Amino acid sequence: MAKKSSPSKLRYAFIGAGGIAGAHMSYLTKFEDVELVGLADVSEASMARHAKTYNIPSAHCFTSYEKMLKELKPDAVSVCTPNGLHAPNTIAALEAGAAVLVEKPMAMNAKEAQKMLDTAKRNKQKLVIGFQYRFGSNSTYLKSAVDAGQFGNIMYGRCQALRRRGIPNWGVFGRKELQGGGPMIDIGVHILEVTHFVMGSPKPIAAFGNTWTYMGNKKSDVISSWPNWDHKTYSVEDLAVGQIRFDNGAILTIESSFVAHVEKDTFSFSIMGEKAGANWDPAAIYHDAGQYMTNSTPAFLTPSGFGDHFQAKMRNFVDHVLYNKPTLAPAEHGVMVQKMLDGIYASAAKGAEVKIG
Ligand SMILES: NC(=O)c1ccc[n+]([C@@H]2O[C@H](COP(=O)([O-])OP(=O)(O)OC[C@H]3O[C@@H](n4cnc5c(N)ncnc54)[C@H](O)[C@@H]3O)[C@@H](O)[C@H]2O)c1
Repeated sequence: MAKKSSPSKLRYAFIGAGGIAGAHMSYLTKFEDVELVGLADVSEASMARHAKTYNIPSAHCFTSYEKMLKELKPDAVSVCTPNGLHAPNTIAALEAGAAVLVEKPMAMNAKEAQKMLDTAKRNKQKLVIGFQYRFGSNSTYLKSAVDAGQFGNIMYGRCQALRRRGIPNWGVFGRKELQGGGPMIDIGVHILEVTHFVMGSPKPIAAFGNTWTYMGNKKSDVISSWPNWDHKTYSVEDLAVGQIRFDNGAILTIESSFVAHVEKDTFSFSIMGEKAGANWDPAAIYHDAGQYMTNSTPAFLTPSGFGDHFQAKMRNFVDHVLYNKPTLAPAEHGVMVQKMLDGIYASAAKGAEVKIG
């Protein structure tokens, strides 16, 4: 059995040691109250790269995550495997007594996500979803205005995650059986989660949408920053458009694509309330001021680049596990987001609005 090196340090391990795991590690190693103790990945080469950078002994690198959990007994685990493994990896880690930060999307579908949440509750373990955009200062700026009642009733949200030519040519992002879907579940989930969060996390009750595949599954010589993706195994959508209805009457529209014919890559959202509306990036609030419509922009925002909100997400998880501070990205929110994604895909398959239970 692995020994606790220091009771005050969080003994932290990884299941999945690829690209995003490296980002987790780079921030965790800045924290004095965290110790990286081990890795599990089917690729020894991936583990060796991170192990060298972060001084993790090779004896603590496992090709079986079950063995890693059994031998190292970590306090906390990041699950950074492809989407299809999030549920089994997370459930195993929770049952082995670890708190879990699972990368987005929470799972392949809401059924798996609910099972993960139930397992966390049954084992009295903490489960957090890797939703970093809610930690950005533009999100905090808008959320605090929403919480202060500046918008009144929020009726509508519109979010977009649109790449012009951006089918990933690495990993398994084009394989539905391993990912659950394409741009909607991969990049749409980011903008969907933060829009839903700023809107106050209302309960989704119905979905309507469609998906289309027109480029990714064909051999193509288009000029792209990531050319030569694997078109033979590409089984996901290129474009997904959907609408969610909430129990408070609000509507949220999402557009997401790896290859949209639009002027520029777009990753942002806007909301409309009875007393004010807002844009997320760049952050601005448009509100009533007597007779006048007034535009407000924050004079100062703390830095909110990818690194800043990613670090805040990692710090919040550590604080939640070690010091019981509230998490901003609870598993309950992950389940709701997953229900919205499921709903849009189900509506696309059915050709009609579907209820979300
Ligand atoms: N929050 C973010 O901004 C963000 C960014 C990128 C990716 N992600 C998410 O992180 C997850 C991983 O994405 P990535 O970009 O790091 O992919 P990746 O392909 O770089 O890494 C995945 C790793 O999982 C390993 N793996 C595959 N099968 C395994 C198994 N059975 N057991 C153990 N390890 C296994 C692979 O060998 C690889 O090292 C995905 O769910 C993705 O959606 C989140």
